[in-house]
Amino acid sequence: MVTKFPDVWTLLSDARRRYGELFAEEPPQAAACAPGRVNLIGEHTDYNQGFVLPMALPFVTVVVGGPTSGQGVTVVTAAEDADEPRRVDFSLTGDGCSLSPGLPRWANYVKGVIQHYRAPGLPNFRAVVASSVPLGGGLSSSASLEVAFYTFLQQLKPDNGEKLGKVLACQQAEHTHAGVPCGIMDQFVSVFAREGHALLIDCRSLEATSVPLADPSLVILITNSNIKHSLTGSEYPTRRRHCEQAASALGKDSLRDVTIKELEEAKEKLDDVIYRRARHVIEEIQRTVQAAEALKKGSYKEFGQLMVESHNSLRDLYEVSCKELDELVSAAMEVEGVFGSRMTGGGFGGCTVTLLQAHAIDKAILHIQEKYSGTPTFYVTTPSEGSRTLSLI
Ligand code: GLA
Repeated sequence: MVTKFPDVWTLLSDARRRYGELFAEEPPQAAACAPGRVNLIGEHTDYNQGFVLPMALPFVTVVVGGPTSGQGVTVVTAAEDADEPRRVDFSLTGDGCSLSPGLPRWANYVKGVIQHYRAPGLPNFRAVVASSVPLGGGLSSSASLEVAFYTFLQQLKPDNGEKLGKVLACQQAEHTHAGVPCGIMDQFVSVFAREGHALLIDCRSLEATSVPLADPSLVILITNSNIKHSLTGSEYPTRRRHCEQAASALGKDSLRDVTIKELEEAKEKLDDVIYRRARHVIEEIQRTVQAAEALKKGSYKEFGQLMVESHNSLRDLYEVSCKELDELVSAAMEVEGVFGSRMTGGGFGGCTVTLLQAHAIDKAILHIQEKYSGTPTFYVTTPSEGSRTLSLI
């Protein structure tokens, strides 16, 4: 009932085997991986310079490869989403167009990372990519590919090793090459996460605090609605624009600097939609800080209540949920032993995250399955570590 995914070592050996089959004459010399993430609370707050509280997943993207004496770059993906070619060849030099976004779409993340890589003089190389992060599920498969690829490139031609620069370069890759004006959360947690911890990120100062989350009596359940979400449509950029409009109408740089009192005082002069978007963001930022405090104290009940408030606000004020996600959250909340549940990520499909007592897991899965009108997939997860190199010895 719970979907199991290959661990990092299985993915690595699959990718190595594939690499050997394709490029037998030059063995791989470097390997790296980076995780997907689930956001526990703090949704649509990162691009408003607010707080977020994600954790890295045990699902990772692995990149294996090495420099080649041959021409150009070749990257092959083992991903299952195979309505596109799995192999791409392009050149690092030449007319400058070879790194422009195009088809296949998955390769745009790779090209974007190369474009924004922070050290000149990358050699030509070959690489194979394998991933266990569900695609289009709102679990940051794209950030994990960007960060894993960056970490791989660091071994071919080291940059200065500064981690924040790496995060920003990967975020830029997403902006310029995938056309998604995302915030910083996904790439940040994929680089900085610590095993057994969630990460409270202040998206204004870009400082982060690890919050322990390894209580064995607790389970973090992810339920995939299997409604594919995509942030490349107009909804995500529109939400972002509305927030900017709200901040500027209130004379502030970002909604981080606006209090609820200030918002209420300005309510009359704001368009209703803009008002509701801003209200979500301002309250969600407060909720996230409060939730991190609750987690530190082990107050799971309070944490769970904040999760539900977050979901309701995303549904009613920010309007990024959908009927399927609402069904999953309602079903989860009917189970004894569940502290809280909410949609996670950009919205419009993808997954919910549920915090519950370990003993309630079977009951929760059965109940959600019974109540959900679609076909859900379940992942039981633990907070995992951020990007790293992998040994090939
Ligand atoms: C997507 C983006 C993130 C963040 C979330 C919403 O995952 O990539 O930067 O904005 O949506 O919280």
